[in-house]
Amino acid sequence: MTVPPPPGPRGLERLLALPRFGRDPLAFTVEITRRHGDVARVQLGRDAAVLVGDPALVGEVLLDREHRFHKDRVTRGLSVIVGNGLLTSEGDFWRRQRRLIAPPLQRKHIARYADAMAASAAALVDRWRDGEARDLHRDMMRLTLDIVVETLFGLQVGDVADRVDRTVEGFMRDFQLLVQTWRRLLPHDFPQPVRRRMRAAGRVLDDILLEIIRTKRAAAGGDDLLSLLLAARDDAGTGMTDAQLRDEAATLFLAGHETTALALGYAFVALARDPAVEAWLHEELDAALGDRLPGADDVARLPRTCAVVDETLRLFPPAWMIGREPQADVVMGGFRVSRGDQVLIAPWAMHRDPRWFDDPLVFRPARWLDGLAERLPRFAYLPFGGGARVCIGNHFARMEAVLLLATIARRVRLEAPPGWRLRLAPTVTLRPRDGLPVVVRRR
Ligand code: HEM
Repeated sequence: MTVPPPPGPRGLERLLALPRFGRDPLAFTVEITRRHGDVARVQLGRDAAVLVGDPALVGEVLLDREHRFHKDRVTRGLSVIVGNGLLTSEGDFWRRQRRLIAPPLQRKHIARYADAMAASAAALVDRWRDGEARDLHRDMMRLTLDIVVETLFGLQVGDVADRVDRTVEGFMRDFQLLVQTWRRLLPHDFPQPVRRRMRAAGRVLDDILLEIIRTKRAAAGGDDLLSLLLAARDDAGTGMTDAQLRDEAATLFLAGHETTALALGYAFVALARDPAVEAWLHEELDAALGDRLPGADDVARLPRTCAVVDETLRLFPPAWMIGREPQADVVMGGFRVSRGDQVLIAPWAMHRDPRWFDDPLVFRPARWLDGLAERLPRFAYLPFGGGARVCIGNHFARMEAVLLLATIARRVRLEAPPGWRLRLAPTVTLRPRDGLPVVVRRR
């Protein structure tokens, strides 16, 4: 008996799928699985995409049968800037790198960065004046950028951070043009100015990062992440080459700051919309912290703050889509998924699934305080992905988000201007379309 392909839109609806996906990818991912089931196939330009909405099947892709899948085409495209780093590498090479990089990012090791994180947030907020209008998105991007540059690269913020940031930002703009516009329809080897600019950005980043790595090798002994990676050795006693360190540094830079900035921005947007939840959070912060800055040990003492972060990551998952590509035909949920299909797992849609979350569209952090995480099916909530390739920075990110949120919310309330509406721009990450305007009110 032949295995059927997954159901999906037909006829005119099939033809309209790409423009509709382009116009509103978030709504599209929710609708396709609701209408066609937990495994649904849809043609997006040159790619056949298979959306998966059942946590058990997601577990097959990310964990049980992960060796049958590689990263998807869009993620692979990032290799122009991150080379063969952890995000894009595969197989035995990825496994070796993951073993080398994981130890310094474990929970017990990252506590050393907590004080620097809280101090950076306090320094930023201390410069804000009561009644001042700010773009919170820009502020959070800058704050998490400074923290990454200090903790990952052991550098003082300033010139290097700006140069790396400009290069990566320019690259991401071009990358977006390539994957979300008509350019996606062109053959992958078709010469386009965007591809040329993206390669040039990769070379600029080479120069900056290799220079940092050479300086670090000469100095040796720092406790920033890059110094620890320089000293890391695999089972055979071999360390990483400069070229490999360059790729991993670029990867950590790309993956390690924007996502956290987005989570923080959306947390404040949600709090501004809901004064009762905001007051509930303030009550905890005022009682637990008083006037001191939070440290690593406080994270466990701030359950409401943690719940605000978890709930923000549920409703606004910065990595709103996770992709894979099967290396051979596989059967999933009774349907044939063909080699080369793009398997898409959308945390955005899964986190809004009424099968797992009551009132899924309501921002209600308290839902996390009564054991919800333990009751949920595995992989129903996956802001950091899951399985073998779960986010390697998840402890770092969660600690950073809790400490920054606590430090800032202890000092200020952030109001949205009257009439302002959040509009989202789901690119590789879930960005706000027009920044996040806020008015500062000192507490
Ligand atoms: C709120 C913040 C963050 C979110 C939502 C997030 C989300 C994710 C997700 C969903 C994945 C899995 C992608 C996949 O399976 O294809 C991932 C992977 C990854 N993340 Fe994060 N991340 C965050 C912060 C960080 C930070 C702070 C770092 C670095 C310090 C980091 C480094 C990485 C790396 C290197 C990978 C690739 C891991 C591998 O494939 O082995 N992320 N992240």
